Amino acid sequence: MKVALGCDHGGLELKDTIAAELRKLGVEVVDEGTVSEESVDYPDFAAKVAGDVASGKVDRGITVCGTGIGMSIAANKFPGIRAALCHDSYTARMSRMHNDANILVLGGRVTGPEVALDILRDWLKTPFEGGRHQRRLDKIAELEKKGCK
Ligand code: RB5
Repeated sequence: MKVALGCDHGGLELKDTIAAELRKLGVEVVDEGTVSEESVDYPDFAAKVAGDVASGKVDRGITVCGTGIGMSIAANKFPGIRAALCHDSYTARMSRMHNDANILVLGGRVTGPEVALDILRDWLKTPFEGGRHQRRLDKIAELEKKGCK
């Protein structure tokens, strides 16, 4: 599996923790930055990761900002992106089983490293259930196509 990572200054430390764990698990990492504590704008990094996922350059993405909220809002503007802000293993598993989330979003200022790693491991290994959940995702894809008219 190949995973793109992106963060702003509020998510830098957690992004680096996630990158190290992914490499330990044998996952190929595309690190889209940021790489320093200097203040940056999270939409720029959400766009890089969402673009990588939407184009098929990577299988999935992970983004981290201070709360995870800005990264979720920005990434979900991209067609085909289903970015899920997760605070625990339950929401991480459900985001895969029911929503087929292709981007995991974490808040570096609200989720500690050990909880984040539990979330990460569950999110990576949980499959999508399909069935009635696919029907709902198809409806979301339709909304993207039509716009909300
Ligand atoms: C940056 O200070 C902060 O606003 C950002 O990391 C994020 O929490 C936005 O949603």
